[in-house]
Amino acid sequence: MPTDRTILVTGGAGYIGSHTVLELLEAGHEVVAFDNLCNGSEEALHRVEQITGKSVTFLNGDIRDRKALDRLFGAHAIDAVVHFAGLKAVGESVNAPLAYYDNNVNGTVALCQAMAAAGVYKLIFSSSATVYGIEAPVPYQEAMSRGTTSNPYGTSKAMVEKVLEDLSQADERWRIGLLRYFNPIGAHPSGLIGEDPKGTPNNLMPYISQVAVGRLDQLSIFGNDYPTADGTCERDYLHVVDLSAGHVKALQCLEVPGVHAYNLGTGKGVSVLEMVKAFQRVTGQQVPYRFAPGRDGDLPAFWADPTKAERELGWQARHSLEDMMRDTWNWQSANPLGYDERNSTA
Ligand code: NAD
Ligand code: UD1
Repeated sequence: MPTDRTILVTGGAGYIGSHTVLELLEAGHEVVAFDNLCNGSEEALHRVEQITGKSVTFLNGDIRDRKALDRLFGAHAIDAVVHFAGLKAVGESVNAPLAYYDNNVNGTVALCQAMAAAGVYKLIFSSSATVYGIEAPVPYQEAMSRGTTSNPYGTSKAMVEKVLEDLSQADERWRIGLLRYFNPIGAHPSGLIGEDPKGTPNNLMPYISQVAVGRLDQLSIFGNDYPTADGTCERDYLHVVDLSAGHVKALQCLEVPGVHAYNLGTGKGVSVLEMVKAFQRVTGQQVPYRFAPGRDGDLPAFWADPTKAERELGWQARHSLEDMMRDTWNWQSANPLGYDERNSTA
């Protein structure tokens, strides 16, 4: 039986949230998932139940709704919170900054207030490599300070990190993990759950897989004259199953008071062109592409130094790029339109 038995997962019906709910159930935890479904799907949780043979308590609600949170903490004996709920589209955040500060910052403040009122002080927060800012040297290391962020989404993540540090300074009962994700991709190997972005994808991997499945015509590769080996941007892509397992491992850092930051990445940069070629090689599917101008705010190349998570949490990314491509296609080909059940074959 795990020490922290019952875990509240905010944003549990989303991409990383649903995969983490699965890992938590497999590790013997009870899970309460709380999500307003603005970008998630209850079907993802039904499928997690199907894969694991275990049940999840799902509550539809908004983290900015303090009364709903108080009811939740009153009805369930929560030991720790894994907090994914928030908005994540970088371009949208530039046009709608208040929605991002409201959901991501105010939402987290309301969650922490409700946690403290209920006497729950253990929190894992979904942060991002974006908090290192636009000038940080690679590889990114946790000891570096946060840098200049280039959009309201990134700024909201950096602000929440600061809020949580201040909270822990003020009250030593708090135990907080800041997990800085690099680029999560892939899907559970069952093909039953995966990434299902609403509308046209902003991120590379779902764009590639939607071109391959025929939902989109062609990939635009943003920029081919960056100072990298093949001129296209390099990122540190990690399998979502590895990332999710990192959350289960990170619960152990909550035994120690204070704030603990960890990079979750592979430590290796892969270019956009290498991604397209790897997808084609592994799946046998063609991905037509063209080169387009660079996207505003994109950095040429960054990747993690993941050694702190390895040393302190015993966590390492285990899946290969081939696994990521195979599992992405397994999910996308079985669910061409994602969780839309009318069209899904899963
Ligand atoms: P996602 O959109 O699939 O999941 C987020 C979930 O939160 C969704 O199900 C959505 O409905 C829910 N949600 C949003 N606002 C809410 C609110 N106010 N109240 C309740 N529920 C709300 O995104 P994801 O890719 O699974 O990302 C999860 C977290 O990880 C986010 O905080 C994101 O910023 C962070 N993150 C993601 C990436 C990535 O590449 N996917 C990288 C770094 C950090
Ligand atoms: C982006 C965000 C980052 C956020 C992460 C997860 C920016 C600048 N950064 O990371 O803050 O945490 O998503 O939501 O948006 N690419 C193409 N064609 C496409 C899509 C992407 O060439 O259609 C390229 C991009 O230029 C980039 C790489 O693929 O070089 C990865 O892009 P993406 O998946 O959007 O992730 P990031 O930009 O690294």
